Amino acid sequence: MRILAIETSCDETAIAVVDFAGPKTRPAIKIFSNIVSSQVKLHAKFGGVVPNLAKREHQRNLPFILKRALKESKLLKISNFQFPISKQILKIQTLEKIFEREPELLKRFKKYILLIQSPKIDAIAITIGPGLAPALWVGVNFAKALAYLWKKPLIPVNHMEGHLYSAFLQKSGENSNFQILNPKFPILALLVSGGHTELVLARGYGKYKIVGETLDDAAGEAFDKVARILGLGYPGGPVISAEAKKILNSKPAPYRSEASGTGSEILNKFQIKLPRPMLNSKDYNFSFSGLKTAVLYLVRDLSKKYSIKVLRPTIAREFQDAAVEVLVKKTIKAAKDYKAKTVLLGGGVAANSLLRHRLFSAVAREILNSKFLIPDSSLCGDNALMIALAAYFSGKKKAPMSIGAEANLRF
Ligand code: KG4
Ligand code: ZN
Repeated sequence: MRILAIETSCDETAIAVVDFAGPKTRPAIKIFSNIVSSQVKLHAKFGGVVPNLAKREHQRNLPFILKRALKESKLLKISNFQFPISKQILKIQTLEKIFEREPELLKRFKKYILLIQSPKIDAIAITIGPGLAPALWVGVNFAKALAYLWKKPLIPVNHMEGHLYSAFLQKSGENSNFQILNPKFPILALLVSGGHTELVLARGYGKYKIVGETLDDAAGEAFDKVARILGLGYPGGPVISAEAKKILNSKPAPYRSEASGTGSEILNKFQIKLPRPMLNSKDYNFSFSGLKTAVLYLVRDLSKKYSIKVLRPTIAREFQDAAVEVLVKKTIKAAKDYKAKTVLLGGGVAANSLLRHRLFSAVAREILNSKFLIPDSSLCGDNALMIALAAYFSGKKKAPMSIGAEANLRF
């Protein structure tokens, strides 16, 4: 099965062409192309993703990225065949209807895509949600137009399901290609992104249940907001992590004994201790909004005496410690209670090295006979390869052309 997958749920425009062959649950995978075009620099100026700007960029990017993906996959053939005028009119009318709200994309579609011959693919996978509605719609309508033009089935994909399956891809050695694992179910997945924080129990392919989730801000959102409070850039995850490392020295151990330099002076003087919201609650839910507010008050008080530059590493470190501690504790609790045979981490925040290390150690220590899966660091952020995987594994049937974006889609 050869899938062309499209992802536009947030600020990455991504297209992948992936071939699956062999046993259904452990196919051999060939990645013909996996292109991600990030808009992050553009949104950074505004301190976060601006939905209509993302929509505009997706419209600009998609036709070029598609051509590049097909070319890399050796599937790009331009037709010089001219359709009879009556057929052309029908085609244009249908496309005009599909792109009613994306006139910019319609123009580009007519110019760059219309003459591409139907490539050798079996289906088009498309992220329908969750995500930013204007951004999602661009991808959904683009996929619909291609499905119509090329007469291919559409497979709707849940973005978070994509993050889950991204951890199924593993490299077996240095510079080797990706292989698909066949992990044991039940799988307990901690999915942490900019918009979502969920503990998902998967009892089989396509059989999911959310057992816990954030009651307010997502983990990635908390990193982004705290970074803004500290006067650091967007996205917050990588910058917070880099600040924290200035006193962390890569060793994840109790900070009070290890901290040194300016950071530790502040720690000792003020005994910075941020809350661990819901750490001991009996459910598997999270809350990060209070933690962010606690950082806000801390900065407000301490910055009367210290410059923000001096405060940053210590606060970043304590915030990261607090967020990681609750994420790890709740995941372990759920993995134990649901007798998970595999514990999995996925989503943009899965790039965080402290979270990766701490969850790995906790699973090894506390969940016997289980396997821990994390995505390759290149696949933590949004990409279309994970969407192709989710389309392949979720077993969803061909969708009707009437599908639409679902900004609040849930597992
Ligand atoms: O999954 P993702 O790429 O996009 C969404 O689906 O939202 O996740 C983006 C989020 C952002 O909030 C970003 O700050 C966070 O992932 N992130 C990190 C790190 N790298 C990215 N959070 C913590 N540590 C990181 N190293
Ligand atoms: Zn994502």
